[in-house]
Amino acid sequence: MAVSMTTENTLAINGGAPVSATGVPFMSTALSEADIAAATAVLRGGMLRQATKCAELEERMARLSGAEYALTCANGTCALQLAYGALLEPGDEVIVPAWTFIATASMIAARGCRPVFCDVRQDTFQIDVSDAERRITPRTTAIACTHLYGCPVDIDAVEKLAAGHGLKIIYDAGQAHLATYKGKGIGGFGDAVTYSFYATKNLATGEGGMVTCNDGELARTIGLLRSHGETEKYVHGMIGYNYRMNDITAAIGCSRLDRLGAQTEARRSAAARYDRVIAGIDGIEAPATTNGATPVYHLYTCKLDPSAFRCGRDEFCAALRAEGVPTAVHYPRSLSRQPAFAPFVTEHPAVADSLSERVLCLPMHADLTAEQIGVVGEAVSKVASAYRA
Ligand SMILES: Cc1ncc(COP(=O)(O)O)c(C=O)c1O
Repeated sequence: MAVSMTTENTLAINGGAPVSATGVPFMSTALSEADIAAATAVLRGGMLRQATKCAELEERMARLSGAEYALTCANGTCALQLAYGALLEPGDEVIVPAWTFIATASMIAARGCRPVFCDVRQDTFQIDVSDAERRITPRTTAIACTHLYGCPVDIDAVEKLAAGHGLKIIYDAGQAHLATYKGKGIGGFGDAVTYSFYATKNLATGEGGMVTCNDGELARTIGLLRSHGETEKYVHGMIGYNYRMNDITAAIGCSRLDRLGAQTEARRSAAARYDRVIAGIDGIEAPATTNGATPVYHLYTCKLDPSAFRCGRDEFCAALRAEGVPTAVHYPRSLSRQPAFAPFVTEHPAVADSLSERVLCLPMHADLTAEQIGVVGEAVSKVASAYRA
């Protein structure tokens, strides 16, 4: 009896039996037969360029996200580049959280602007608006912030700050399709909102992106930037790019959009279960939600209290993997620590730095079962007990 108890408590990484021999999938990205049929129909029709399927995706996403205009594009990085291209001028300073995906900030630099890194909140991981405020200078023209992990930022606070200083706002919703703030879709807030439809995103087309906004003139400019600045056939009114989406991609997007509402609800249910499981484990904190926000849980990101354990986050994650629970770290480095940003950095925002050593993302997707969440909870408890300080 004593022997079997010991084996049961021994971490799999140390030779014990894993909590799950089969493992819990970290994500679920499979296409449905309907997605495949939608793409095939475009292939059979031979219309491979940006056409009616892109228009359909734009119309539906505009409606679902609460925006008047939506423009498809090649990917989320291009979406940022289009929004920044239309709203920023070279030399501008732009406040951006140090805790986000690289492109939110790197495309500011690519526009010839200066990214000014601000900190994020410990509880929600979202932009810390008071920290952003103290970094505003006469050269600041905009705030670019991400609804990170699928949780909207404190939009009221961002808008109040921006209005007080005459700043533009670009929201990066690459992880936040269908999220809402105070009951409204996030697509209509700020000057422009950008999305990614990368293969792992809540709405995934492989590669793909979008910009939404409420300003018709801005939408027109973005549309021109997207396609060589072409104002009429072979007349180019401005320098533009080819950042267009194609109809095969858009058809997959439209087909997947049919399920996105239900899938988002499934993610929210999974997150609610996780919240209950994590609340019972000392030293690990569940993600908090911005007041008024309804997140879509692209990622379910917890925070480890380093003083509670005799191991670091990476060792904790390695032990979880051995138990059958894969995790991910978004992100292992604050953006202010990225070599590419060295010329712009004068200080390293402290919370972002600490998060880089503390966060871990648990498996999260629409197909996660209650049983699998139970397995994750058991594995996290087992590893937490084994490493308890
Ligand atoms: C928040 C955020 N912004 C921008 C991007 C860039 O999008 P893409 O990979 O489609 O270029 C991503 C992810 O990939 C992201 O997570």
